[in-house]
Amino acid sequence: MSVIAAKCPHIQVHVVDLNEKRIAAWNDADLDKLPIYEPGLAGIVSQARGRNLTFSTNVDQAIQDADMIFISVNTPTKTYGIGKGMAADLKYIELCARQIAAVSKSDKIIVEKSTLPVRTAEALKDILSSTGNGVKFQVLSNPEFLAEGTAVEDLLNPDRVLIGGERTPDGEEAMQALHDVYQNWVPTERILKTNVWSSELSKLTANAFLAQRVSSINSLSALCEATEADVDEVARAIGQDSRIGSKFLKSSVGFGGSCFQKDILNLVYLCRTYGLNEVADYWHQVILMNDYQKRRFAQKIISTLYNTVNGKKIVLLGWAFKKDTNDTRESAAIYVADYLLSEQAELVIYDPKVTAEQVYADLDYLNTRSEAENRSLVTVVKDKKEIFDQAHAVAVLTEWEEFKEIEWKSVYEKMLKPAFVFDGRAILDMEELAGIGFKCFAIGKG
Ligand code: UDX
Repeated sequence: MSVIAAKCPHIQVHVVDLNEKRIAAWNDADLDKLPIYEPGLAGIVSQARGRNLTFSTNVDQAIQDADMIFISVNTPTKTYGIGKGMAADLKYIELCARQIAAVSKSDKIIVEKSTLPVRTAEALKDILSSTGNGVKFQVLSNPEFLAEGTAVEDLLNPDRVLIGGERTPDGEEAMQALHDVYQNWVPTERILKTNVWSSELSKLTANAFLAQRVSSINSLSALCEATEADVDEVARAIGQDSRIGSKFLKSSVGFGGSCFQKDILNLVYLCRTYGLNEVADYWHQVILMNDYQKRRFAQKIISTLYNTVNGKKIVLLGWAFKKDTNDTRESAAIYVADYLLSEQAELVIYDPKVTAEQVYADLDYLNTRSEAENRSLVTVVKDKKEIFDQAHAVAVLTEWEEFKEIEWKSVYEKMLKPAFVFDGRAILDMEELAGIGFKCFAIGKG
């Protein structure tokens, strides 16, 4: 919404949320306090805030004033009932729709921005058109393809914008209205129009394909380690094939983030609902491979440290699910830490953007052990200078640039010997580390 406001000074953008604390943070004069860390975002917000971009908790007023409403609430995986652990929980979407239906006094275009299972727009339309007060709604699907860490760049220069709508005159008119918003900065040929269900399904499919590439290369990282091949060399060689392409072939300790797992589970659930069990199994394997990769990395640490990490100090570098974000949702680091803690390791965790509260909240959420145990076994530090003293091992879990700049020679001197480094992102210079004296392991390097 901030990018839309920045690019369209003639459009008034009102962002509303029930959460007062979050809205206050969006309004904070200190741009370092925005609730989300994204490179370039503070500049965009400061450009538009107070001009044609506002943040408030006045939800009803904003609904009444709007010609177009973007619904951007979360759609987490259900934790209860039918579809538990698989299907998307549409509670918040439905509550939004009911509130919009209750307070609207004029016709509106409703844009689904949240990622939703196929045919959700239909449900939205049902709720919205049952008010009996004569107000007309058009529901569009406009899935968001930005990736975190590069969100602003992706929004300013998207590969494509997808707009799904009803293929009726009213539907076409609504699609054109949204098209006109994006056209202020996106070339027309990159704005695609389609029907609502194809649009909804495209988002799930895009994420499933991207995650599948990571799981595919990660599956081969295990084979590379067993056969003395180098997964990055394999990725480089296949990436040169223009049919395959070079992106999303970086082997890792496992993909994380709020989207991949959730959207694939959603796809799997949809397929099962339609009786397409073979299709469901096929996509589910992408998740199972990712679970295997996280487990495999933790087991590698344990087996290398002579089959016990009990009481051993292990430094984890990185907690975010990727670099340049403070988002930790489904981060591989959480699961690797959990395995190591179950073996009674003592963890010291450093991430340049993630707070200690967040690390503890992520571990507590798993419910594997008590909150007190998590706090006694895990120390979270703000500065990585002093953390290597007497450590048995260091594991890199997020590919932050600053980890490449570490003075490994002085780290080596501080650690217990033999000193181990486990590189879950294959970003360090293994030859240099081995030269210093480290015993090293990097994902996918045989
Ligand atoms: C993803 C999609 O890319 C985006 O289009 C969609 O809108 C939301 O979901 P995001 O989750 O923000 O975006 O990040 P992404 O860059 O896709 O990375 C996801 C995970 O895959 C990260 O944990 C990342 O480290 C991992 N990854 C990515 C790899 O392990 N290897 C790769 O080659 C690429």
